[in-house]
Amino acid sequence: MAAPGPHSVLYKGLMLPALVHSTESLRYAQLGFQVRDRDIFSVTYPKSGTTWMQELLTLIHSDGDPQLAQSVPSWERVPWVEQTTAAGFLENRPCPRLISSHLPCGLFPTSLHGSNAKVIYTVRNPKDVCVSLYYYSKMASFLEFPEDFGEFVELFSAGKVLFGSWFQHVKGWLGLRDRLNFLLLTYEEMHQDLRGSVERICQFLGKPLEARALDGVVENASFQAMKQNRMCNYSLVPENIMDQRISPFLRKGVPGDWKGHFTVAQSQAFDRLYQEQMQDVGIRFPWDE
Ligand code: A3P
Repeated sequence: MAAPGPHSVLYKGLMLPALVHSTESLRYAQLGFQVRDRDIFSVTYPKSGTTWMQELLTLIHSDGDPQLAQSVPSWERVPWVEQTTAAGFLENRPCPRLISSHLPCGLFPTSLHGSNAKVIYTVRNPKDVCVSLYYYSKMASFLEFPEDFGEFVELFSAGKVLFGSWFQHVKGWLGLRDRLNFLLLTYEEMHQDLRGSVERICQFLGKPLEARALDGVVENASFQAMKQNRMCNYSLVPENIMDQRISPFLRKGVPGDWKGHFTVAQSQAFDRLYQEQMQDVGIRFPWDE
């Protein structure tokens, strides 16, 4: 891996944008942050439905009332444990704390282990993650700009992107699922049946909702509603950091967009890598069908 440039920070093999990360923030996340039993973590590899889950958790905890989701930015409602703003801010969050993270399990707060905190891990078809990350890299000035999509597929396949290898991330977290208070969700099942997915989350959290509250969650967490919501569509971020004229943050919001981007050869090469990497995982995902 190349040496970190002025815009990035290298921490234990992970190269991250220095805009919101530092060695101190990553060390604090891993070693300083104290997990509490009532904490609720949403963990994702980037572009797998992070913002969506931030919206869902906010709305579930607001009983479907969109007031909070429409008045406070998503990154303050469900802040990232690894970012520079976390220390101090997270200490004073109301209970249960709703916390986001993109960290691979090996760099996650060590105090998670032995706690009763809940972890919701959302996973998405890696080919769609790759496409989504490609457009994000184009519009975000703090990320390396790929020459073309083919080159980006190679970088993604080799794990030379934000938060490292998708395979290592997913396999690492899934390997812990029997040892943690853990819910596995897929982007694809959320897309196919959002209401059912919200019910699964509510059951996992021990927070049943009345039908009307459930309606409120589903309505306000739709792609269209989130695209309109300035508190989660990233339009609050200045254009010199995220240029949504190049590509909107909430871009397409569908499974299967990879089909219009991967060539047959790229797709076959990725499938071979996927088989090789995922053969022992023992879970069938919607995209495996
Ligand atoms: P696309 O680029 O494929 O459109 P993250 O929040 O982890 O960065 O993920 C962003 C991806 O999730 C984007 O994918 C975005 O459009 C999609 N997304 C966010 N909210 C969504 C929603 N309510 N429904 C469907 N997709 C959503």
